[in-house]
Amino acid sequence: MKSYLIIFHLTLLLFGFIFVEHHLDTPERAAASRQSLMTDGSGIAARLAAVGQINTAEAQSNSTTTKVAATEVAATEVTSTEASVDGQKIYQGACIACHGAGIAGAPAVGNVAAWASRIEAGADTLYANAINGFQGSSGVMPGKGGNAALSDDEVKAAVDYMVSQSQ
Ligand code: HEC
Repeated sequence: MKSYLIIFHLTLLLFGFIFVEHHLDTPERAAASRQSLMTDGSGIAARLAAVGQINTAEAQSNSTTTKVAATEVAATEVTSTEASVDGQKIYQGACIACHGAGIAGAPAVGNVAAWASRIEAGADTLYANAINGFQGSSGVMPGKGGNAALSDDEVKAAVDYMVSQSQ
């Protein structure tokens, strides 16, 4: 009976040791993760920086690297908003009324013959005529399709979409 007790206590002691051993480095781990959360991210920027840098003085200045990284992020965001102008949506909202079936002399989207000579004139002509409007031989194209709220870029995106569907 006594030996059982001894074994029981030894086992308890062993678990105690394992427990303490296992958690000995907990303060350091907590400090490390806290530090990585509390920095301004410059450590990450440094780690992500290109391996070969000619101007090492600049690359080593953490704040500069962070600023460069931030500018790059901003630039990417601007590009993505521009790319999100959906030509198809704008066409469906503002142009399909005339260009869907070819109403009032409008060249119908998908009618390759009706678009061939127009496309030949070049994208800049198409953009300008779509934005400013024009009177052609077959009818009147109102500026921006009569929807003045559209930006030039949105009209261009719609033209691009219409051309892509009519080649
Ligand atoms: C009220 C009817 C109408 C609406 C709405 C309309 N168009 Fe047009 N569009 C025309 C007509 C008519 C023509 C052909 C004019 C001609 O060649 O005589 C035309 C021609 C065009 C052309 C050919 C230009 C060229 O140089 O030959 C483009 C590009 C164009 N439209 C784009 C658009 C876009 C983009 C929209 C929507 C934002 C739109 N249109 C909305 C009537 C319309």
